[in-house]
Amino acid sequence: MRVMLAITLLLVSLSSSAQDVDPSTGLIKNPGWEIIKANCSACHSLNLVTSNRGNREEWLTTIRWMQETQKLWQFDPKTEDTILNYLAQSYPATKQNRRRPIPNHLLPQ
Ligand code: HEC
Repeated sequence: MRVMLAITLLLVSLSSSAQDVDPSTGLIKNPGWEIIKANCSACHSLNLVTSNRGNREEWLTTIRWMQETQKLWQFDPKTEDTILNYLAQSYPATKQNRRRPIPNHLLPQ
């Protein structure tokens, strides 16, 4: 009985922690990952993508910044939605990389 329990626990923990990662790009294979592969690897390594974290808004800010200053092309609304869903789901914000708010005395008056 104990052995059965141990095996069951092992299988449960394996299936819940395993994330399917594409070996050639390092991208987590959530829906839309091929769109990331096609659109986000032209100018820099996809490591830059997979090592960053953010909520949907933060990812959108990064994309707008690249569009305004780094010649990233525009996406049609559906593609942009897929990209943002993928990024926010696969590389979500973590508490550790949240910046603290800037204290009032350091803000411009
Ligand atoms: C047209 C070129 C181009 C494309 C395509 C591109 N980027 Fe970038 N991106 C850049 C440049 C340039 C930088 C700055 C690189 C550096 O600092 O070394 C950058 C930086 C980044 C950063 C780091 C931002 C930071 O705050 O440090 C992330 C994350 C990122 N890109 C994600 C993406 C994602 C996601 C896509 C696809 C939707 C993408 N990039 C497509 C040009 C591009």
